[in-house]
Amino acid sequence: MILNYENIDDLNRYKIMSGSIVPRPIAWIVTDDNGILNAAPFSYFIPISTNPALVIVAIGKKDDGSLKDTLANILKTKKATICFPNRTNVEQVQKCATPLAKNESEIEKFEINVRKELEDYPPLISSTQTALFCEYYDTYKVEGDTTPIILKINYQYIEDGRISDRNHTNIDSIGRSGITFKAMVDL
Ligand SMILES: Cc1cc2nc3c(=O)[nH]c(=O)nc-3n(C[C@H](O)[C@H](O)[C@H](O)COP(=O)(O)O)c2cc1C
Repeated sequence: MILNYENIDDLNRYKIMSGSIVPRPIAWIVTDDNGILNAAPFSYFIPISTNPALVIVAIGKKDDGSLKDTLANILKTKKATICFPNRTNVEQVQKCATPLAKNESEIEKFEINVRKELEDYPPLISSTQTALFCEYYDTYKVEGDTTPIILKINYQYIEDGRISDRNHTNIDSIGRSGITFKAMVDL
């Protein structure tokens, strides 16, 4: 069976793409707008370059057509801290996907513990095993409602014991597969 994308509407493309391009890592992005901490998950997310160290995250619009808070905050402050959910916080991740008013904080409303590690970046979510401290780098222009933004990793937090002296890491993040979450497992 060949699917011709010209004949598939956006919702069904999304269902097919997100159920086929699996698993995808989940960027649980924390941003800060004058002390209002925002946290939201994004799975249209992937590394694209090592030097410079770049990741891309594609952010859609809110239902009313306005920018999602994460994108608005990144464009304003140029900073983002990317955390990674694990098995223990699936529920919190799902709650963070609820659209809230711009002046409401997911971190406060859903009582998510955060910790400031670097002065010039938003705090990290305490349960994350690793976090990327990023600055805005560029926007990749595409037609339609999605804004793929490129972020540059300047610093990384990694929990003690999760990186070896040869820089091999051991991170138990979960990924997105269709509408479900999947843990990464060794073959
Ligand atoms: C696992 C998961 C992955 C998601 N991935 C994306 C994504 O890649 N792009 C996007 O625009 N929204 C994505 N969403 C929806 C956003 O998290 C949701 O719109 C959220 O309310 C945005 O919050 P904000 O307005 O605070 O930025 C995802 C939701 C979940 C649960």
